[in-house]
Amino acid sequence: MSNLKQNGQLRWAPSYLRNRGKVTRAQKRAMKEWWPEYGITFEHGRRIDLDECFSGDGPLLIEIGFGMGNHLVSLAQARPDCRVLGIEVHRPGLAAATMKVHESGCSNVRLMRGDARLVLSDHLHEKIADAIFVQFPDPWPKPGSGHRRLIQPGMVEVMKNILKPGGEFLLTTDVEEYADHCRKVLAEAKGWQETGASPWQQYRIRTPYEEKGLENGHPISELAYRLLP
Ligand SMILES: C[S@@+](CC[C@H](N)C(=O)[O-])C[C@H]1O[C@@H](n2cnc3c(N)ncnc32)[C@H](O)[C@@H]1O
Repeated sequence: MSNLKQNGQLRWAPSYLRNRGKVTRAQKRAMKEWWPEYGITFEHGRRIDLDECFSGDGPLLIEIGFGMGNHLVSLAQARPDCRVLGIEVHRPGLAAATMKVHESGCSNVRLMRGDARLVLSDHLHEKIADAIFVQFPDPWPKPGSGHRRLIQPGMVEVMKNILKPGGEFLLTTDVEEYADHCRKVLAEAKGWQETGASPWQQYRIRTPYEEKGLENGHPISELAYRLLP
């Protein structure tokens, strides 16, 4: 992820912690065996032609920060006509998801390792995605840490470039203050319509972070936006 820096400075504050968690032996084996089939490796300065990575040409759904891959795989199973691209930085999550994709037999999923903001801005072509999903982004709740949240004005501009006109952005969180933060950032970004609900939400399943939120009695906010044509 070297091109996160420009002139020696970070281009934005990372929304994740580096090297969090350990990869087990079984996960290492799975990565060695299955990553070549499901993983997309990208190089500095190069954009990826997704037509070369997926066999179909159905709607492109991107999930950012898929964690252990539960929602990603369930989405791919529910919509075999779609291409599902997951982007995650967390190695154990990538390994777990690689195993899940393999076990599911889904051929319509591909995985990328990296900062999603970097992948979307530097490594994918514009106007290609039908929907972007974010499930339970890290809330960065401490005072002064809000600049590390994934959803920032810069990230919203990057998502605007990647979505097709009419494309959708769906975010779920159990942190009410994060939901308010997103509403504010998207309202200020212009070009988005808050739709309140989307047909894509019918495929949502409870993720580990949603379970935690519910155990703690947190209400779940589901945000749905459409990019105006
Ligand atoms: C709180 S977890 C939620 C995981 C999963 N979506 C769930 O609901 O169980 C947030 C995830 O986002 C990932 N993440 C944070 N910032 C990211 C970024 N810029 N690009 C890709 N993944 C990111 C983290 O590594 C972590 O796995």
